[in-house]
Order: sequence, then C-alpha cells, then structure tokens
Amino acid sequence: MRARVEVLHGVNLDMLSRRDPRHYGGLTLTELEVKVKRFADAMGLEVAFDQTNHEGEYCELLHRAAEIADGLVLNPGAWTHYSYAIRDALEVAGLPAVEVHLSAVDEREEWRRRSVIGDLCVGRVQGRGVDGYREALELVEAALRR
Ligand code: DQA
Repeated sequence: MRARVEVLHGVNLDMLSRRDPRHYGGLTLTELEVKVKRFADAMGLEVAFDQTNHEGEYCELLHRAAEIADGLVLNPGAWTHYSYAIRDALEVAGLPAVEVHLSAVDEREEWRRRSVIGDLCVGRVQGRGVDGYREALELVEAALRR
C-alpha cells in the first residue's frame, strides 16, 4: 500500500501568484500542486491537497486527516505564527507532520520566526520554494518508515 500524504495549504495561499514573487516565486497554487504531485509520484507516495482561508475549517481538515492520510505536509501560512487552535487540532490529528514555508521565514520579519506548531512536527523546511515540498515529502516518508 502506498503511503498517503495530505498537503494542507492555509490562509492566503490560494492567492500565491498575486503575492510578492521575491518570496513566493509567482506560481499559482494549482501550478505548485502539479509540481508537488510529480514529486510524490516519483517517490511512490499518494498525495491529496486542500486549502482554506478559514481557521476553523483548517482545524476540521486536521480532525479528519487521520481517516484519509498517513502523514501531513502543512503550510498554514500566517496561522503558523499564532494559531493555538491549529496547534491543538494537529495534536488531535496525531500524524507525522512536516511544516513547510516557501519563503525564508527565519530571515524575514521577527514575527515570522515563531512557529506554534514546530515542536509537534517531525521536520521543518523553509526558504526552498516549491522544492521545499519535495524535502517535506521526504521527511514525512522517513518518519513513516521509522
Ligand atoms: C508562508 C510564510 C508565512 O509567514 C506567510 O504568512 C505565508 C506563507 C510561506 O510559505 O513562506 O502566508 O507560510
């Protein structure tokens, strides 16, 4: 059985192509997902995607995650930095998760350096653009093998 990974994009990631290309690369979210799907196919992983701008909905996606996935790749966008609701929902999910950011959050504004989900994750990738999602998938896969 192929391992199933759910990639959950958070707030404002649907607007990816309209955000600062110096940080986000100018891709649409659909173009990003096509690339991530190719990474997953090459690794023999099954992948599914979801995006929402609503914090409670993101929590509900996490509540349901264990029914449809073995592992998670999470880019909650700005929620990363302050949403304890999403942190608690990630605990409920109870799946190996990797936090990913397209931009180099550690080199941007001070408030982006903080993650309230980081210590619940098995890995964190930042500042690698879309290739960061390949690394994130690899980290999830490694955690599933352990
Ligand atoms: C982001 C970084 C966050 O600080 C920001 O709020 C985002 C996107 C990234 O992918 O680089 O919306 O998660």
